[in-house]
Amino acid sequence: MSLLLDTVPASVEVVESTLGFGSNNLYTDILIVVLIIVMLALLASALMVNRAMKSIIRITMPELVNEEAARRLANKGWLKRSWNKMMGIRPISEEKDIVIDHEYDGIRELDNPIPIWFNFLFYGTIFFGLVYLFIYQVSGLGMNQDQEYAHEMVVAEKERQAYLAASASNVDESTVEFQPEMAAEGKAIFAANCVACHGGNGEGGIGPNLTDKFWLHGGEIKDVFKTIKYGVPDKGMVPWEQTLSPAQIAQVASYIVTLRDTKPANPKEPQGEEVSYGSTEAAETTAVDNAVDKKTEQ
Ligand code: HEC
Repeated sequence: MSLLLDTVPASVEVVESTLGFGSNNLYTDILIVVLIIVMLALLASALMVNRAMKSIIRITMPELVNEEAARRLANKGWLKRSWNKMMGIRPISEEKDIVIDHEYDGIRELDNPIPIWFNFLFYGTIFFGLVYLFIYQVSGLGMNQDQEYAHEMVVAEKERQAYLAASASNVDESTVEFQPEMAAEGKAIFAANCVACHGGNGEGGIGPNLTDKFWLHGGEIKDVFKTIKYGVPDKGMVPWEQTLSPAQIAQVASYIVTLRDTKPANPKEPQGEEVSYGSTEAAETTAVDNAVDKKTEQ
């Protein structure tokens, strides 16, 4: 073995094996094959030595061999007896002892004992049932179905939150969607960062009114997201990209969408173009309004 290893100079580049098993190194593969062959040869010679010894014993000490054979036979009988006991089989010679004392048309019945395997199963299931009952119903060690359900739901909810958090931080101006449940967090972000210029209720101040239908940079959620993210630096609107995470921008953008048509006190006069929230996700109120308008038109 060391010989083989020594024939591999350390500087030699590793040669790719073509044998397709073990390591990728050809020398290691050869080593493994040689080792296997050596082991097989050793095994074969050991077997041969064993045979030789046996025939020597047979010739020199025949009584030992006979003894061995007798013992083996006895062992076999023991095996057979315990097997029969397991299966509840009685030898035919004992049949007359267990025949029941009645007969019908020459048919007689044997009073065979219940096989041990059957009893084992029978009492085993009872035992299993008791243990099961104790673990799952009495002791509270194991979870019963309801608890398991609740547990799975908690796990799934955690995974869902993790997934949502991951997908929320990937959001950008082309994928952002209005989500009413984000508005609450958005409101807090707005209160902390935006009220100074846009007013406590989005009515406007230094910055424009965010509650009316008039927008300088578009009033759809994607436009709002973009304006918040990149800002309008030369007009005094801060780019928030560095300060807020994408998820936070999405939240505050969702909050601004909920401000639509809230008509706060002291609104700043409209700036920009009127937007009709065509494909808005949030425009339930506007959609209802439109429907009402249409009805009155008819
Ligand atoms: C320093 C003052 C200031 C702060 C703080 C500020 N804004 Fe603005 N914002 C402005 C100004 C000024 C404009 C108008 C830009 C223009 O004229 O193009 C504007 C415009 C906007 C617009 C576009 C309005 C339109 O009509 O298209 C949105 C949306 C907006 N801001 C959201 C926010 C949000 C959300 C925050 C807080 C994270 C915020 N702003 C913080 C000053 C501010």
